[in-house]
Amino acid sequence: MLAFKEAGTGPAVLLLHGFPLDHTIWENQVRHLAEDYRVITPDLPGMGGSHPLPSAELPNLTAMAEEVLGLMDGRKVGMAAAAGHSMGGYVALALQQLAPDRVTGLAMVGSQAAPDTPEARQSRFATARAVREQGARLVAESMLPKLFAPSLPPDSPLRARVERIIRRTSVDGIRGALLSMADRPDMTPYLPSITVPTLVLTGDEDRAIPPERSETMAAALPNATLVIVKGAGHMPMLEAPEEVNRALEEWLASVY
Ligand code: MLT
Repeated sequence: MLAFKEAGTGPAVLLLHGFPLDHTIWENQVRHLAEDYRVITPDLPGMGGSHPLPSAELPNLTAMAEEVLGLMDGRKVGMAAAAGHSMGGYVALALQQLAPDRVTGLAMVGSQAAPDTPEARQSRFATARAVREQGARLVAESMLPKLFAPSLPPDSPLRARVERIIRRTSVDGIRGALLSMADRPDMTPYLPSITVPTLVLTGDEDRAIPPERSETMAAALPNATLVIVKGAGHMPMLEAPEEVNRALEEWLASVY
């Protein structure tokens, strides 16, 4: 079973982290939401304290979603609202598709339904090869410049904090996540069938996944609320925790 943390009681909420991070990025949201909800924050396969996906099979997002479902079973969680950041959003979408009757609401934070371009796929394969030699440092160096809004003060401790999380992620976990993301299908045609309340949240200064992807996604979802957080980049849960907490709270009030 995946490593996880759990806090609070009430209707269940899953918070799924992005690449290649761990459950701790949701710390501010857990503290806030656990007053009213049972908040479960897994470490996705190969990240944080969780084992990588079995190497015998090609890693993919459905396999990651199956692990999340296994965690729900293990914790006796019948249904949950699922929020995912970036890659965690891809997993939340895969979970919704895998077990729609167990997902009461969906939140996509700095994420997208679109697949990789052919160039992006090739770049993931190249990184997956190079990381074997160079380790997590390579990913930290390529990702950090894109994660935060340019307006984040240079001395903000957030950069060092996220760098530490990336650098302690295992090479197997990084490779599995890269190959899973490269493999993901275009989920856009699936969006109109998602009728549960959905929050689509992005920072207007997101340089990893452009905010327009969130706008496109929200327009295709029948029951979506779009929230654009001013001055936030790809890590709004850290850069603008109060705004994100408020948006999640309003979304959950519409779910439960
Ligand atoms: C993430 O933050 O999870 C990744 O940047 C997503 C991606 O590379 O597509």
